[in-house]
Amino acid sequence: MGTKFEACSNSTRSSCPGYAVTNFTRAEQGFEASLVLTGPPCNAYGKDIFHLTLGIRFDTQNRLHVHIKDTVEKQYQIPRAIIPLDSGSGVSENDSNLKFTHVQDAQSGFGFKIQRGDDVIFDTTGRPLIFEDQYIEITSSLPKNANIYGIGETPDYFRRSTANTTKTLWNRDAHNPLGENVYGSHSIYMELRKGKFHGAYLHNSHGMDIVMANGTIQYRLLGGTVDLYFFGGPSALDVIDQYTELVGRPNRIPYWSLGFHNCRYGYKSVYVVNEVIANYSKARIPLEVAWTDIDYMDNTRDFTFDSVNFPLSEMQKQLKYLHSRNQRMVLMTDPAIQRKTSYETYVRGHELNVFIKNPDGSEYVGHVWPGYTVFPDWFGNNTDKWWHAELQQYFDQLPIDGMWIDMNEATSFCTGTCGSGQPTDKVPALPWLVSSPGPPHRKLNTSNPFLVPPYAIHNPQIEISDNTIETTAVHANGVIEYHVHNLYGYMQSKTTRDFLLAYRQNKRPFLLSRSTFAGSGALVNHWTGDNEATWQDLHISISSVFDFGIFGIPMVGADICGFTGNTTEELCARWIEVGAFYPFSRNHNAIEMESQELYLWESVAEASRRALAVRYKLLPYFYTMYQYSVEVGWPVARPLVFEFPQVPETAGNDRQMLIGGGILVSPVLEEGATTVRAFFPAGKWYDWYDYTEVTGTNAFVILDANLEHINVHIRGGSIIPMQPPGMTTVESRANNFQLLVATNGQGKASGELRARSEHGVCQRSGS
Ligand code: GLC
Repeated sequence: MGTKFEACSNSTRSSCPGYAVTNFTRAEQGFEASLVLTGPPCNAYGKDIFHLTLGIRFDTQNRLHVHIKDTVEKQYQIPRAIIPLDSGSGVSENDSNLKFTHVQDAQSGFGFKIQRGDDVIFDTTGRPLIFEDQYIEITSSLPKNANIYGIGETPDYFRRSTANTTKTLWNRDAHNPLGENVYGSHSIYMELRKGKFHGAYLHNSHGMDIVMANGTIQYRLLGGTVDLYFFGGPSALDVIDQYTELVGRPNRIPYWSLGFHNCRYGYKSVYVVNEVIANYSKARIPLEVAWTDIDYMDNTRDFTFDSVNFPLSEMQKQLKYLHSRNQRMVLMTDPAIQRKTSYETYVRGHELNVFIKNPDGSEYVGHVWPGYTVFPDWFGNNTDKWWHAELQQYFDQLPIDGMWIDMNEATSFCTGTCGSGQPTDKVPALPWLVSSPGPPHRKLNTSNPFLVPPYAIHNPQIEISDNTIETTAVHANGVIEYHVHNLYGYMQSKTTRDFLLAYRQNKRPFLLSRSTFAGSGALVNHWTGDNEATWQDLHISISSVFDFGIFGIPMVGADICGFTGNTTEELCARWIEVGAFYPFSRNHNAIEMESQELYLWESVAEASRRALAVRYKLLPYFYTMYQYSVEVGWPVARPLVFEFPQVPETAGNDRQMLIGGGILVSPVLEEGATTVRAFFPAGKWYDWYDYTEVTGTNAFVILDANLEHINVHIRGGSIIPMQPPGMTTVESRANNFQLLVATNGQGKASGELRARSEHGVCQRSGS
C-alpha cells in the first residue's frame, strides 16, 4: 500500500489549481455558488471535475451544512432512502450560531471558514480543493495539539493523536490492530477547544483516509462529494445531540438487554450451554441472556440447526427454560449464504435473484464459514422480502429474543472473488489455517481503477478488496461495491430490524451488529469485535465505548475477558469489573480458547458478583441515562472530559468512565496492581460502598483496589435512582425503588428517573 501511495507524488497534487467561486448568491436559509477549476487539471489520482456546485444551509441554529458536489451529479451520493438524514427546519444566517465565509486565494483558489463566535472551527483557506472522480481532497487547519475525539471505527486511545495520524475508513474484519480501521465507518469528530466542543461530520460512503498532520486535518476520499455538516456544541453532549438529530437517534432497547450476557464461540452442544446457564445460577452470578454463536447451525449455514449437537427440539427446550426463569436467548446470523443447491435458503434466494453479481451478471462468489458463499444484495428489489421470509420461518421454529448479525463488512476470506466457486461439498480451508498459499491477499488486475484505485487508502490489507467483496461486484441498481462497501452492515441492519419490528409489533427489538455506519445507532447496538485477552485491549475497550457514544451507538461493549488468546484469572476479574459498566455487558470467547465463564475462578466469581450487583442496583439509573440517549443522543458511558471540559487533565483520560454524569468508575487496568490512581475533578465525591467522602481537587488520588474490588464513586449533587439487585432484570424491577441522594458542597442534589412499566414510560425528576 505504501508504495502505491508514495508513487503518486505530492508534486502532482501541489500543481492542482483549485477552484474559483462564481455566482455566489443568497438562497433560502443559506447560499449557493458555482465552482470552476481555475487551471489545467492536475488529475492527481483520477480526473479533475471542472464544474462543481456549492450549497450552504443553516439547517438548525447549531448545525451548518456545506455540500460541494459535481454539478452534473454523477458522483455517487448516499441516497436519502438508505440513510434518512434530518434536514432541519432551516434558520436564517442571523439566527445561526455558526457562520460561513469564503475566500478566493490567488494561489489556492476557493476556500471557506466556519466560525462559532470568534472561533474559526474549520478553515480550508490556503489549500486547494481537489475534486476528481476517484479522489477528493479537502483540508482544514487544526490548532496545535488539538483535542480530537471520534473518527473510527478504530481501536485507539480516546484522544486521537494529531501527529502524523491517518485514520482510514473502510469496513474491515480485523482483530484489534491499534489505530487501524476495523468493522465500521464513522467520520464524525469532535474537537475540544478552550473548554468548548464543536464537531464535523462528512457524509460519504467511500473509502477514505482522514489524515491529521502538520496542524491540519485532511480528508482524502475515493469518490462521492464533500458533504460536510458542522455542529456548534458547545458541550460534548450538545455535539452528540446535534449529530444524532441529523443521522438518527439511538434505538430504544429492551430493558432486559441491560442485564449481563454470556457467549462463546465453540460451545460444543446445547447441553454444554445448558450447563453454563445452570453454573451461573449456582454461582449466584446474574445471567440475563445466554448466547450461542454459529456453533448451533448445521455446517454454519444460516437458519439451520445442527441435528446432533444443537437439535431444534433441544434449542426450543432451552428457550422455554430460559423464559421460565426470566432469561433470554440471542443467536448469531451471518449475511453470507452457502452456495449449494441442496440448501433451500440459497435456492429461494437464487430464484428471487437476491445475490450480488459479478460484472458479467453471474452470482458473485466469496468464502465464509460454510465454504463458498453468495451475499445478499440489500439493494435488490426482492431481497428484503426473501430475507424476511427466511427469518420468519426461523423465528416460527425458535422465537429467540434478539439477533446478532456479524461478518457484515462484509467479510469474505478471499481477495475479492473466489472465482466461479462451483458448488462443492468440499469446504475450502480457512485462510489462516493453511500455510500455503498464505494470507488472503493476492494481487489483483491493476488495470481496473475500481479494483485498485489510483489513490490507495491506508487499508492495511493492501487491496481494498482483500477479505471482503470485490469492489467491482455489482448491485441490483447497477452501483458497484466500490461506492457502497461501507454501507453493507448498515443496510443489513435496517432490513433485519424491520423484520423484528414487524414480527413482534409491540416489542423493542434487540439487534447487535458488528459493522456499522453513521446512523446505525437508530437500528442496532454494537460490540467492539474480536479483541484480545490482553491488558492493553482492556484499556482500549474503554475508548471504544466512548467512541461509539460519539457515533450515536451508546449501547456498546467489548468482549469481556477478551475474545482471542487465553485470558487469565486476574485479567478476567479486572475485565468484568470494567465490563459490568459497559452499557452492553457480555462475556465472549473465541473457539479453542480456554473457557472463561465468570464462575470458573473464585476470585472472578466474587469480582463479578460484586460488580454486577452494583450494575443491577443501578439499572434504573442506566435505563434513565439510556432514555436520554434515545431522546437526545447522550451517551450512557462518558469520559470525564465530557463533563469537565474545563479541566485540562481530563482531556486524555480514557482510564476512568462515568455512567451518566453521576457515577464514576475507576478500574484497575494493569497486571498486578492493587491500587488505582484515579482522577477526581473538583467537588464532592462519595464512595459507593460506604459513602466515605472524597474531596476532589482536580488531582489524582490513590485508591485501594484488591482483586475483587471495583472503585465506584457518586458525584456530589446527584440523586441516583436504584432498585436492590436481583438475579435478573425482572427480579430487580420487582423491588422497591431507592434514591441515593449525594449532596454537593451547597448541600444540594438533583436527579431524574425514567421507568418503564406496562403503562409506558414514567418520568420523575427532583432535587
Ligand atoms: C467473528 C465474530 C465473533 C464470532 C465469530 C464466529 O469473528 O466477531 O464474535 O464469535 O465470528 O461466529
